[in-house]
Amino acid sequence: MPRLNNKVSLITGASRGIGLAIAKAFLREGAIVILSDIDTDLGLLAIKELRGKSQFCRLDVRQEIDWEKVTQEIISRYGKLDILVNNAGITGFENGVVNHDPENVNLEDWRAVHATNLEGTLLGCKYAIRAMRKNREGSIINISSRSGLVGIPRAAAYASSKAAIRNHTKTVALYCAEEGLNIRCNSIHPAAILTPMWEPMLGDEPKVREQNMREFIKDCPMQRFGEPSEVASLAVLLASDEAAYMNGTELTIDGALLAGSAVSPASRT
Ligand SMILES: NC(=O)c1ccc[n+]([C@@H]2O[C@H](COP(=O)([O-])OP(=O)(O)OC[C@H]3O[C@@H](n4cnc5c(N)ncnc54)[C@H](O)[C@@H]3O)[C@@H](O)[C@H]2O)c1
Repeated sequence: MPRLNNKVSLITGASRGIGLAIAKAFLREGAIVILSDIDTDLGLLAIKELRGKSQFCRLDVRQEIDWEKVTQEIISRYGKLDILVNNAGITGFENGVVNHDPENVNLEDWRAVHATNLEGTLLGCKYAIRAMRKNREGSIINISSRSGLVGIPRAAAYASSKAAIRNHTKTVALYCAEEGLNIRCNSIHPAAILTPMWEPMLGDEPKVREQNMREFIKDCPMQRFGEPSEVASLAVLLASDEAAYMNGTELTIDGALLAGSAVSPASRT
């Protein structure tokens, strides 16, 4: 019996990377999967390649109107929403690495990162609770980061937004329990997972790229990047009924990075 048989799931930022890997894993486990993203071209391409019960819809996680529309459409078409994965996220370095240290970060950049990562998750939880209230059950999975658990000297906005996601996850879990709803809410905290998100930080030139990759995993005890499919496996567990008593918790997936204390400032210049 598939682990997510006929569960209706919505995944944000699912056109590529971890979101797409979660979509594939959910489909393998028998779920109905609604992939969403702001990148419609890539999303439609992904749908073409996926076999199974999937569809794509444009959803900008920053726009409340989009959440209202998409969740209403899901309820009219499928009658329920069982799973939401709040996966869409940005580092703020999409157009090249800029200053995001606490001394120099620009307020506009700070707000943009929080608008997608934190406000997007806030809105996702809000509309998922409303949609799940009908059946009084569901699973909300928030993709935070290991950066939400420790400070990151040169990515202050990203770290702050991911830390706030961790905390909001617990608030949602407690609120739903207080309301007598069996809606679980948990966060996943990946460290370096090799996805297109890393491209602006890796560079194109093969030697530089190889050196950058080595640098990014040098503190990871397992000495490698994680795979998107490895994060997806964790999402399957949290989405499934096997995780019926897991609520308000945070799960790291980081090759043992946070098990020790290797993390230190990269540079003093
Ligand atoms: N890759 C990693 O090393 C890593 C580590 C920790 C946490 N994460 C988190 O995992 C999640 C997925 O990361 P990824 O590596 O797959 O990134 P990615 O950049 O490869 O994919 C992110 C997707 O989100 C979409 N997106 C961006 N803004 C959006 C918006 N406003 N509305 C809807 N969709 C939007 C993008 O179009 C893209 O398809 C993010 O929340 C990220 O912070 C990633």
